[in-house]
Amino acid sequence: MSACIVLPQGSKISPGIVGAWVKGGYPQRGWVRKMQVITVANLKGGVGKTATTHALGVVLAQHLGRRVLLVDVDPQASLSSACGIEHADESSLAEVLGGETWGQLPLSDVIRQIEPNLAVAPASPRLAAIEQSLKTRIRREMVLKDALTTVSGDRSRARRGEIGDAQYDIVLIDTPPSFGLLTVNALVAADGVLVPCRPEIMSLRSLRIFMRRLEDVLPFHPRLKILGVLPTFFDRRFTHHQSMLHMMRTAGYPILPVTIGRSVRVAEAAEVGQSVVSYAPDNERTLEYMVLGSIVDAWLQDQARSPQAQASFSTARWAKVERGTP
Ligand SMILES: Nc1ncnc2c1ncn2[C@@H]1O[C@H](COP(=O)(O)OP(=O)(O)OP(=O)(O)O)[C@@H](O)[C@H]1O
Ligand SMILES: [Mg+2]
Repeated sequence: MSACIVLPQGSKISPGIVGAWVKGGYPQRGWVRKMQVITVANLKGGVGKTATTHALGVVLAQHLGRRVLLVDVDPQASLSSACGIEHADESSLAEVLGGETWGQLPLSDVIRQIEPNLAVAPASPRLAAIEQSLKTRIRREMVLKDALTTVSGDRSRARRGEIGDAQYDIVLIDTPPSFGLLTVNALVAADGVLVPCRPEIMSLRSLRIFMRRLEDVLPFHPRLKILGVLPTFFDRRFTHHQSMLHMMRTAGYPILPVTIGRSVRVAEAAEVGQSVVSYAPDNERTLEYMVLGSIVDAWLQDQARSPQAQASFSTARWAKVERGTP
């Protein structure tokens, strides 16, 4: 199977962008199929975290054949709702994470398969209370990571170079617009962080704070990597957006080579329990999310081949850049 996504004819996105990131097909030999985790996060609300998590999940599942688990750790439960799950009150991530002690349900009990290759662990508003009660828990930053190990397969077999038996290839975690314990848990569980950001001055300020705060996670996860910053709601006709993007690049932020524009189809899709990728397959946002899917997939393959790669994207390295001591 090839990792390249075939873009429809007449696409305004250069397939070269995809080709530059997707180096060859899927590795066949020596590649351990272990579950990898991407957390989509930013302090700022309304930047497209949920829309991106959903669309990316659908692209990876439907177009790249990955077995994807979406995990909603946001008490607003927007991702669950966008996936058509409205009331997961008795069987949500809250019942898995618990509070001072473990919840009553294992993760696998709350996961719902919503389409082939795509499953969701839904949120409920109770997660807000869970975040408070987690504060007194031992290993409180590791609770989600520990829960995910129950579906991540046999790591010891994977280390021996055998194919692991993970139930999912990729986990995508959607987070609330805050840096509380739920977000910290999502970051500690992650191999990489994807940071959607609007090209606006207020978003840029939040981005700076968020990137600095990633340092707080390093004691629990010294090898946390930044997959990249994803410009969202981007309109290339606006010089303001162009200059914001330039400013972010000049400041050294790892900006991904794809932007997501604005379209009312994205919001319409969420209202009917779909992602824009399924709802409007020919929409330009869908094409952009397909490019993002290829980029993320290629990044994960690079990580699987050589976990030491892309050191310049590591959070530890970023912290030095921020302090002016690269
Ligand atoms: N590319 C887009 N074009 C137009 N509307 C979008 C786009 N992406 C997201 N939206 C809409 O903007 C709103 C905010 O998006 P979304 O919920 O994904 O942001 P968020 O960062 O997850 O917000 P929160 O921090 O509150 O969880 C939603 O109504 C969503 O449908
Ligand atoms: Mg959201």
